[in-house]
Amino acid sequence: MNMAVSPIPDDKLQNSDFLTDVLAGLSEEQKTLPCKYLYDEAGSRLFEQICELDDYYLTRTEAAIFREHITAMAQQVGPGALIVEPGAGNCEKVELLLEHLQAPSGYYPIDISPEILLAAKARITARLPNIEVTASIGDFTQADVWQGLKDITPRKRVLFFPGSTIGNFTPEHAEVLLEFFASKLSRGDGLLIGTDLVKDSIVLERAYCDSEHVTEEFNKNILARINSELNANFDLAHFAHRAFYHPLRQRVEMHLVSLKSHTVQIAGRKFEFAEGETIHTENSHKYSISGFNRLLSSAGFTPIRHWCDSEQRYAVHYAQIS
Ligand SMILES: C[S@@+](CC[C@H](N)C(=O)[O-])C[C@H]1O[C@@H](n2cnc3c(N)ncnc32)[C@H](O)[C@@H]1O
Repeated sequence: MNMAVSPIPDDKLQNSDFLTDVLAGLSEEQKTLPCKYLYDEAGSRLFEQICELDDYYLTRTEAAIFREHITAMAQQVGPGALIVEPGAGNCEKVELLLEHLQAPSGYYPIDISPEILLAAKARITARLPNIEVTASIGDFTQADVWQGLKDITPRKRVLFFPGSTIGNFTPEHAEVLLEFFASKLSRGDGLLIGTDLVKDSIVLERAYCDSEHVTEEFNKNILARINSELNANFDLAHFAHRAFYHPLRQRVEMHLVSLKSHTVQIAGRKFEFAEGETIHTENSHKYSISGFNRLLSSAGFTPIRHWCDSEQRYAVHYAQIS
């Protein structure tokens, strides 16, 4: 499905969250753009390509952990569960889990990118016709996208949050987000969540600065999106992609570096860029097992168990509300 994105009409621009967030982020001393806006339809497709790259070990490592341990994971989730997936994307990873679960009571994916989510819903419904899929489009940090859950009464709810999406939040924001997730759950409900582990910076940087330049295209796509939806005039050739590991913060930071001093207009507002100045577009935080268990505990979850690959690159954790 290919849907052209039309610019937000002028009378709606004023009320657009996207515009508000972009103007606020670019007004900060360190210019930033929220990473959730990387995922329009083009961005989501580019992210799918990233997941296939040799340099991007995360997806295949996580997939191997799921394949190896899916029976134990399904047992841990138990029968009659409703699987809720915030940031579901193309919903590919959940299929293996849904196939192994005993009598799941449904699947509730949430994503900000409607095209990719609706295509995924159609695919899952065709492949697993016995599973009721309720797709919820919007920002998973907002209460409205969780409203549909009140119409479903499963034996238990399990949040599925793979892909190291939690790493896109600073540890402080991750704790707040996990507390918010916990507030959607009851005693005995669970969380199955993937985290990337702290490792050699060369491996990390290669994953976010791949030799085929797909991550560069993904990063710059946010500027193209601002141009087409918010009436802006970014010249993508004036920016370069940069990704580096920050060992103290234990995160890979992704930036767009201005290659020259210039001015950009967005919805009538002017933004100056100095040569070498950057826009910070994404963080990908890395955790140790014990560090992530501490985070889970402080957010109200009880860590139950985790599964890793043999090289200790990646972990999938199961935690529950006790
Ligand atoms: C890193 S991808 C992970 C996709 C999938 N869960 C996986 O593991 O392959 C992040 C996904 O989360 C979605 N996303 C990011 N921030 C979001 C937000 N605040 N609300 C809803 N969806 C979001 C994006 O559209 C994208 O599909």
